[in-house]
Amino acid sequence: METATFANIHWHDERFKYDCEARNQAVEQACLSHFDGKNGITIVDLGSGTGSNCLYFFEKFPFHQNWIFIEKEEKVSKYALNRLSIEADKKGYEVIHGTNQLELKKESKSIKIKYLTDSFLNLVDLVNLDEVDLVMASAVFDLISFSQFVDFGSVLLEKRLPLFTTLNYAEMNFNSDSPSDVVFIEKYESFMNRPQEFGKAMGKKCPRILVDFFQKQEAKIKYGPSIWKLEGESAQVMNHHLLNFMESASRHIMENEDEKLFKDWITSKREAVEEGVLNTYVQYYDMFISNQ
Ligand SMILES: C[S@@+](CC[C@H](N)C(=O)[O-])C[C@H]1O[C@@H](n2cnc3c(N)ncnc32)[C@H](O)[C@@H]1O
Repeated sequence: METATFANIHWHDERFKYDCEARNQAVEQACLSHFDGKNGITIVDLGSGTGSNCLYFFEKFPFHQNWIFIEKEEKVSKYALNRLSIEADKKGYEVIHGTNQLELKKESKSIKIKYLTDSFLNLVDLVNLDEVDLVMASAVFDLISFSQFVDFGSVLLEKRLPLFTTLNYAEMNFNSDSPSDVVFIEKYESFMNRPQEFGKAMGKKCPRILVDFFQKQEAKIKYGPSIWKLEGESAQVMNHHLLNFMESASRHIMENEDEKLFKDWITSKREAVEEGVLNTYVQYYDMFISNQ
């Protein structure tokens, strides 16, 4: 059974399709147009996981790219490079392997990817930000605290570095009218902002905090919803992953008196998944901040 904190590689793979479908096209377009006419850019991807941002964008960006992944789990980064090399090969790219890095080449386009195994909170010590054109972060800011974000966001503002951040968690619901849904979704969300050694993660408040922070600094911000739609039979695997994740999170926060109710609730949800009738909607926000 996966733990709630372990970055489950198979979940990341399964998520990719839903992540892609969820992406807010207007926000994405704001980012793409920002770099119109460029010959190449350097992108830092924070909490890069299995490389989904790069996989999604390396063909969409029409220019050379130099990607720097910052990910604390080295085995996840190794998996990311392997995944990218397989997908690039399928798309007809020449793949050149190096230590902790990869180069993809097709015609005159070159995409270089390297990973650093560290916390992205140490960004300023890891990367020369004067040589970076874009910071990306997907499904990571809800994991850090407000004060960690403020330290981080201030550096981006000071350096006038554009930030493209997607899948910032806001809320979720199911296609049922069970009153227990509300209770157990709230428990799950309280796990997200449980006290940790660095404080409380922003959890579902993340999108509001980010928008508020950048608006107050008068940065240019484009944002909008991005929604996972995990519907019926075709989303059975993903719904099971999500329920497993909720179950492992719940072990950390459930009061004894709620345990039986939770067990009954999650069993009924799993039955609905098996019958192909469970729909889950997870609402995130995407945003592009450019400080010019
Ligand atoms: C929910 S996953 C998102 C992965 C990827 N961005 C995506 O969209 O598929 C969060 C990732 O951030 C990594 N992570 C969390 N906190 C981090 C930190 N402080 N520094 C570096 N990586 C971190 C985790 O190991 C995990 O791979």
